[in-house]
Amino acid sequence: MMLRPRHTLIAVLLASLPVAAASAQNLDSLLARMTLEEKLGQLNLLSAGGKASPQQVDLVRRGLVGGLFNVIGTENTQAVDRVATTESRLRIPLLFGLDVIHGFRTIFPIPLAEASAFDPDLAEGTARAAGREAAAAGINWTYAPMVDIAHDPRWGRIAEGSGEDPYLGSLLAAARVRGFQESILATAKHFAAYGAAEAGRDYNTADISQRTVREVYFPPFKAAVDAGVATLMSAFNDIGGVPASGNAWLTDTVLRREWGFRGMVVSDWTSVAELIPHGIAASREEAGQRALTAGVDMDMQSSIYVETLAPLVRANRIPMAVVDSAVLRVLRAKARVAQLHPVAPNAVEIRALARRAARESIVLLKNDGGLLPLDKAAPAIAVIGPLADNRLDPLGPWHTEGKPEDVVTVLQGIKTRVPATTQVLYAQGAGIEDTSTAGFADAVAAARHAKVAILVLGERHDMSGEAASRSSLGLPGVQQQLLEAVAATGTPVVLVVMNGRPLILEWAAEHVPAIVEDWFLGVESGNATAEVLFGDVNPSGRLPVSFPRAVGQIPLYYNHRNTGRPPAADKFTSKYIDVPVTPRYPFGYGLSYTTFAYRDLKLSAARVGPADTLKVTVTVANTGTREGTEVAQLYVRDEVGSVARPVRELKGFRRVTLKPGEQRVVELRLAVRDLAFYGLDMKPAVEPGTFRVFVGPNSVEGLEAAFEVAYP
Ligand code: BGC
Repeated sequence: MMLRPRHTLIAVLLASLPVAAASAQNLDSLLARMTLEEKLGQLNLLSAGGKASPQQVDLVRRGLVGGLFNVIGTENTQAVDRVATTESRLRIPLLFGLDVIHGFRTIFPIPLAEASAFDPDLAEGTARAAGREAAAAGINWTYAPMVDIAHDPRWGRIAEGSGEDPYLGSLLAAARVRGFQESILATAKHFAAYGAAEAGRDYNTADISQRTVREVYFPPFKAAVDAGVATLMSAFNDIGGVPASGNAWLTDTVLRREWGFRGMVVSDWTSVAELIPHGIAASREEAGQRALTAGVDMDMQSSIYVETLAPLVRANRIPMAVVDSAVLRVLRAKARVAQLHPVAPNAVEIRALARRAARESIVLLKNDGGLLPLDKAAPAIAVIGPLADNRLDPLGPWHTEGKPEDVVTVLQGIKTRVPATTQVLYAQGAGIEDTSTAGFADAVAAARHAKVAILVLGERHDMSGEAASRSSLGLPGVQQQLLEAVAATGTPVVLVVMNGRPLILEWAAEHVPAIVEDWFLGVESGNATAEVLFGDVNPSGRLPVSFPRAVGQIPLYYNHRNTGRPPAADKFTSKYIDVPVTPRYPFGYGLSYTTFAYRDLKLSAARVGPADTLKVTVTVANTGTREGTEVAQLYVRDEVGSVARPVRELKGFRRVTLKPGEQRVVELRLAVRDLAFYGLDMKPAVEPGTFRVFVGPNSVEGLEAAFEVAYP
């Protein structure tokens, strides 16, 4: 079971009280007994290497550490927590943090993959399972969910989030917070606009308007706050010159005053110290003062608060009230930990959930001539590529305690599903970043002997995630040549791609009949992929992010503004002379082994008032020959506003599973208040006028209707 703060008066006190009551009197009286050094100690968060070092244990004993992260295993967490709760003067338990991003021991699909499922219930379930496993290893705080909206696939951290859409991102943020917080505290990160890093270069400046910050980057954070998230993490980047880890507008004005957030803000790794290279602080003291007074409560890994701020507080340069508020927020987080009731993880259930998650995350991008699903009984199938029998990379970035030996590879998944009469010919062909083509001959030979060649290509797990920006988005190394060499055999090719970001797959999109987007699917990667390849599972994932045709199109996202010269045949319109303006695969897109038709789009009213909710109904029919799941998507366009509105905005979706020939009336609700935006006065409001509604299979197709919003 997870470590609970025990054997201490304080912990018993905290555990016996509801969180709100615990904060009021008892925490105040605890605060009154603390020295300034002990207060700053509570704001100090340090990383350990698996277990606390002797120096860290000593700091804990002296009350100079509030939390540790990267301490794993209850023996290790309990050992150092025992020092905190029995040997430190105030006996305050520690927080134990970890980046539990998409699983702890059982690794689920990366968050971007899971976003493809358009299934908040799934996201809640995997977060809950990850929280249970982590809690059983002594962790009580995760640095997840990462809720940064991203428009730039060059940015490696796009893998950790939910893609480009604030509505989908908000639903998944709230779901993941609920899931984690059954067992451990969650952290919505990185506040804010980290995903707007210029040129997709990690840690880079974000220079975007306040309107865009509010409308695009804030909503998932607000959703996390509304779902009760315990903590937020301040980001590395600056917004228009003000770093997020010293930005009072973000962490005080918006987060605490506008949104009423009562939880704790933790800095990112040394992001307090980084205020110096950012150029807004000349010294560690100044950096600490700036961050703390902006509302960053816990200092991760800079040790600046604990080491430098006491003299400033004594000299009244930092009000004691600022320190006290931060300490109270940390203590309240600890009180919340004491209120958690972690459930013991059930390994069998969690593994089954990993399978479901992997199945739902796969997106079928292309399937010309119905090449897929494949016949299991084909005499020979070639399985080729550096990721075909690879156990490490399907774990993706941030795989914490995940182990390659838990991973089922695509080759294994295929082998266990075909009859003994089917020959499976495997050739690696090349390594992920190889420059050598020496292995091509074997791959080509395998393809020649087979009825179909499955190529499993893509990125290494650490080519996305933190500090993993790329300037080109093709297949790394010689994989593109490998694909072309195998395709040249004339054997039909199925391309399975594993990647932490949208890749540019132009040649494949033109020449390869079938493309399966796997992302990094985690431990059940090979089983889920094989099930999809053979049709045991009908793919239902939809892209949570646009796939560009060329790097030069980036940033590319579906909910852009129209411009005064929208792209058209005429030369002087907003487009490129060398590439179409559209994405290769748009947001919301994904195929199935069956087909769906949309009919009878109806709105419950043609005119609505600001407090109304419109009922949007549409009939979705399975017009093919297999059972399948469609994700019916509802988009809106506000025709005319005081400020130009996006060409489409997702406002609802529904997963519908239909048998062949079956049809269903799908109802989606559209609350008029959700049409609000930040007008010229920067206040959210729904402006009257005409709104177009689109309901369909992705962000570019669908049936269309319109309604008016009118004020009485
Ligand atoms: C990352 C955070 C992470 C932290 C702790 C930082 O480098 O930006 O997302 O939570 O490290 O590991």
